[in-house]
This record gives sequence, structure tokens and C-alpha cells, in this order.
Amino acid sequence: MDNLVKELTEAFGPSGEENEVRTLIKSLAKGKFDRVYEDVLGNLFLEREGSAPKILVSAHMDEIGVIVTHIDDNGFIRIAPVGGISVYGLPGKRFRFRNGTIGTVYHEKLDKISELEWNKTYLDIGQPDRESAAKLVSIGDLACYDQSFRALEGGRYISKAMDDRVGCAVLLEVLRRLPRKLPQAVCFLFSVQEEVGLRGATTAAYRYEPDFGIAVDVTLVGDTPKAHLMEVSLGKGPAIKVKDRSVLCHPLVRKLMIDTAKVNNIPYQLEVLERGGTDAGAIHISREGVPSGAISIPCRYIHSPSEIVDSSDLKNAVLLLEKLLIDQWPTQERSY
Ligand code: CO
Ligand code: ZN
Repeated sequence: MDNLVKELTEAFGPSGEENEVRTLIKSLAKGKFDRVYEDVLGNLFLEREGSAPKILVSAHMDEIGVIVTHIDDNGFIRIAPVGGISVYGLPGKRFRFRNGTIGTVYHEKLDKISELEWNKTYLDIGQPDRESAAKLVSIGDLACYDQSFRALEGGRYISKAMDDRVGCAVLLEVLRRLPRKLPQAVCFLFSVQEEVGLRGATTAAYRYEPDFGIAVDVTLVGDTPKAHLMEVSLGKGPAIKVKDRSVLCHPLVRKLMIDTAKVNNIPYQLEVLERGGTDAGAIHISREGVPSGAISIPCRYIHSPSEIVDSSDLKNAVLLLEKLLIDQWPTQERSY
């Protein structure tokens, strides 16, 4: 999966500007679906037709980034966050705009680093004055981290935007492997604007009217030095979500996931995420409610330019999702 993850993570796609990712996914999925459509927000639906029930599987295309708020007379650019990006990680980090313009974030003189705030940071794109800077960048332009993908010795990957291009990679890989005929209808949703509040998944779930929802996204881990206590580690298998801030996963979906993992000898972990949410949060409260769950890829340093995942977790997530979708899902019993 090295190449797939490389292509997807290196694509430009801050929330609201997912075009490049969407175009890439359409070309990678060519011939593997029965129907493709997009909605007004930019969600990409790849449908595999079939009889009831209907399962919506979602991974988000967008990544966190920054937005231009002001350009000063000396060509320095003021920025604000788009999605959950920490100001403490910013000094010295490079950002890239859609037109290829690159700059580094730095900050005004501070007495203590704890004084660092967004309004004390700026982006330097190497231009001497406002006029030349404004030729390259406009107010409202979005930028994402400028950081390339690397496969590390031993099978781990490091890159920006693992959140959630690894989810997109898992969906694409499953789409390629699935048999032509499935026991039920499945829609692979590549959603937009997850990082600013699960917005794409909200309209997409309303439109597709699924009977079940599954999100594939990254989750935090507790396996780094003096980490917050959390029972998820890199390399121990995909995490089956129990809860996060956006969803209490439906017990039926959770059980189907756990049983499928056990029957097929796929390693898995259970995830209780104390902060953060995912597309399942929007899907499960669509219309009259949709039984939903999530498969999470353990990921270190989420929302930094150097997120680390283990390729064995990706492979096992692909296996788990594939086995889940080729089994017949219940058409009647869906109560909590
Ligand atoms: Co995220
Ligand atoms: Zn995510």
C-alpha cells in the first residue's frame, strides 16, 4: 500500500478544498463501482448496488490547514487555523498553497514560549512586500503542511494527512478487492469538511439514507513516552471504536465488527477516545438514527506534519472491512 498512501497523503486537501483528493480517488477507483456522484458540498459517493440493507462506509478527504487573514506591508502573512491545529507545533513548519507557493510559520519576539498565540504567528513566503506577496496569495486562501511521505524501516509510515487519507486508502483497497456481487448495497463515501465539524458526512448520510454506517478514520494512541493512558497501540491491529466525543457506537455494529475479527483471526483493539470525533458522529444521528460504528487506524502525533501509522494496521483494517462487507448484514433487527 506504500504508493497508494504516498499519493493520497501528498495530495493537497484542506477542508473545503478537497478537489485534488477527489480527482485522485476517482481515477484510483476507476471501474470498481456501479454508480458515482458528487453533491454540492463536494462529497464523493462510489456506490456498489445490491439489495437491502444499505451500508454507508465513510472516510474523509480533508485535512487540517491554515487560512490567510491578512498580508502586511512587508509581505508577512497572518493566518488562522482551519480544523484542530495546535499553535505550539507551528514555528518552523512549512505550508503549501494550492498554486505551489510555500512558506514557513514563525512568531514575533516572545519572552516565554507559553505566550505563543495564533495572533503572534505569521507565515513568511519569502516576498519583500505586500504587492509581491499578494500576487501569490490572497485573503482566504488555504494552505496545508508541506511534508512528503516516507516509508520507515520496518513497515511504519510517516507523513502529513494520515488523518484521514489512510482511511481513504483502506476504502480504495477494499473496493478493489471486493467481489463483483455483494450481499447488500454499499456506498463508499469520501467525505468533505470532517475537520471543521463532520459537515460532509451530515449531508451525505441524509442523501444516501443508509441502514448502517461505518467510519474509517485515525485514532490517538497511548504507546508513546508518558502518554495519556489509552488502550490503543501502533501495530496491534485496527481499533474497533466504542466511543469518542461524537458517537457512542451501536452495540450491534460493534458486535459484528468484533465477531468478524475473531472469526477471521484479525488482530483488533477496542478504542475509547476521550476527545475528537469522526464521520460516524454525523451518520448515526441522520434522519431517524442509523446504527453506526467505526474502524480506527492507530496514529501517533495526529494533526502534526509527521503523523506515524503502522502498515500492518492498515492491512488488517482492509481485511476487517472486506470481511465485514462480504457477510450478510441483518435486515430486520436493528434496535439498540
Ligand atoms: Co482529524
Ligand atoms: Zn480524521
